[in-house]
Amino acid sequence: MDLSTAMWTAAVVGAAAVCWFVWVMDLAEVLSRFMGRDNVQGKYNQVRSFFLRSKEDIAAASDEDKMPSIIQTYYNLLTDIIEWKLGQSFHFSPSLPGRSDREAARIYEERIADVIAARPGQRIVDVGCGIGGPMRTIAARSGADIVGITISDYQVARAREHNRKAGLDGRCEVVCGNFLEMPFPEASFDGAYSIEATCHAPRLEDVYREVFRVLKPGALYVSCEVVTTALYRPDDPRHVETIRGIEIGGALATLRAQHELAATARQAGFEVLEERDLALPPAEPWWTRPKISRFVYLSNHVMVTILTALRIAPKGIVEVYEMLYETAGHVNYGGETGIFTPMHMILCRKPPENQ
Ligand SMILES: C[S@@+](CC[C@H](N)C(=O)[O-])C[C@H]1O[C@@H](n2cnc3c(N)ncnc32)[C@H](O)[C@@H]1O
Repeated sequence: MDLSTAMWTAAVVGAAAVCWFVWVMDLAEVLSRFMGRDNVQGKYNQVRSFFLRSKEDIAAASDEDKMPSIIQTYYNLLTDIIEWKLGQSFHFSPSLPGRSDREAARIYEERIADVIAARPGQRIVDVGCGIGGPMRTIAARSGADIVGITISDYQVARAREHNRKAGLDGRCEVVCGNFLEMPFPEASFDGAYSIEATCHAPRLEDVYREVFRVLKPGALYVSCEVVTTALYRPDDPRHVETIRGIEIGGALATLRAQHELAATARQAGFEVLEERDLALPPAEPWWTRPKISRFVYLSNHVMVTILTALRIAPKGIVEVYEMLYETAGHVNYGGETGIFTPMHMILCRKPPENQ
């Protein structure tokens, strides 16, 4: 090997080693945040076994009001890892040529602000706000004040920290609570939106009714729903396995069908102004986003296992990682075949008083 080849080889190997080191440190930092948490393994088992039950059992547990506490456990457990993978917005968005995933998410959120015509002086509720990525974009885009509600106390703390860092804590407020019984008076908001959140409600009509209650007459509500499409066939075992996999890994009692949304919104009292699956062309495929190669999966798996053995990460994290990987596979297949969409937009209006 001549000198210049040796130098190039050393440079490439050195750069790869630095990237690998940065990646390991980043992963170790995220996982080390779990160390202060109580019983990660037990909480993972609790969530997993809840959603592995039959649909009838899950429905019965929902009737007993057990669902909010399970969803809280799920998001308290997963928020750091989701943030690490997706950033501050916990949703999919149509891929846009030449734009990064984060830019595409921002553009999607700005579209939501525009659809409900949010503007300065208004008070808008974000139903199931996560750690507030969409809230900050929508506040910045529209000038409106946003109040987010999430069932996860861990997300509340994280969202408040991000709001403060972004200098938006005066305009973005986050409340810990159940969106099926929102701690807000009737007719107290000028608009509402929800992104990939109402899918967690055991019965969609309950959350739509609650959003209807807190909106002022004439106010708009847009929801980006996670649903099965008309291409889903319940007689195809692969379809059934995929949708069930998304439900189990995504902490969903049941995925609803696209065609149920408008009827449910009308039952709650809304007028339905528009409905569209934003994942369809001309949007570029979104489903490649959750897909990771076998190589990346295995290297992550090995690192998470080593970090657990070194007690940098707590017991149970390997299982959490496995669950996310498995769910990502189902989401990818569901998106590719078109049997599932996380971007079915429905725009509703609470009728004006004089109507
Ligand atoms: C997939 S995340 C989406 C978060 C956010 N909309 C975003 O796009 O970044 C779902 C959110 O719904 C919230 N959620 C689920 N069930 C809830 C409930 N019953 N009450 C309040 N929030 C709930 C979760 O806590 C989580 O913040």
